[in-house]
Amino acid sequence: MKRISFLSVVAAIVVSLLAFSPHLSGQTDEKASPNYEVKIPAGYRDWKLISVAHEAGNLNDIRAILGNNVAVKGYRKGNLPFPDGTIIARLAWKYVPSEENNKVFAREQSFVAGSPTNVQFMVKDSKRYSATGGWGFAQFTNGKPLNEAEPKTCFACHEPARARDFIFTVYAP
Ligand code: HEC
Repeated sequence: MKRISFLSVVAAIVVSLLAFSPHLSGQTDEKASPNYEVKIPAGYRDWKLISVAHEAGNLNDIRAILGNNVAVKGYRKGNLPFPDGTIIARLAWKYVPSEENNKVFAREQSFVAGSPTNVQFMVKDSKRYSATGGWGFAQFTNGKPLNEAEPKTCFACHEPARARDFIFTVYAP
């Protein structure tokens, strides 16, 4: 009897330790994106640069695509699919003219990053996200995840890039 209760105490401790331990993939405990439960990964702002892009039209932004170490290794090796643990981040800012820079150039030619618009993440976990090509999707504006329905549109639109493991961005030399 004593032995059983000792074991159940040990089990309870193990369970609570697991419950409170940080997420195994190194993500922080901030609010999660509703569908895929992707959280804002710790330290993503310091990740390596994969490429940059500019979207005109309504978005009119300038963006940086960053990857964690697993992502960058995957890109450099060029073996698809990307390994589990890959996280690719897309950061975007308003695309704004810089008066200060234009003065220096003596003409209107300089555009820089203005206020941030949103951050998107694609997280590779081939088992957990097997229904969506192994990728979990999330978007955050001011640290807040998108509402319930919206992340569902992500995978469908990334489908045309299936041959590159659903990733559009090519590693910029
Ligand atoms: C209308 C189609 C469309 C939708 C919807 C869409 N994406 Fe994308 N996404 C793209 C295209 C095209 C690119 C590459 C061009 C660019 O960077 O602007 C891209 C780039 C990305 C990248 C950089 C890696 C890559 O594939 O190049 C991430 C991360 C990303 N999207 C995440 C998301 C998330 C998360 C959602 C849902 C909240 C989402 N996307 C919804 C079309 C889409």
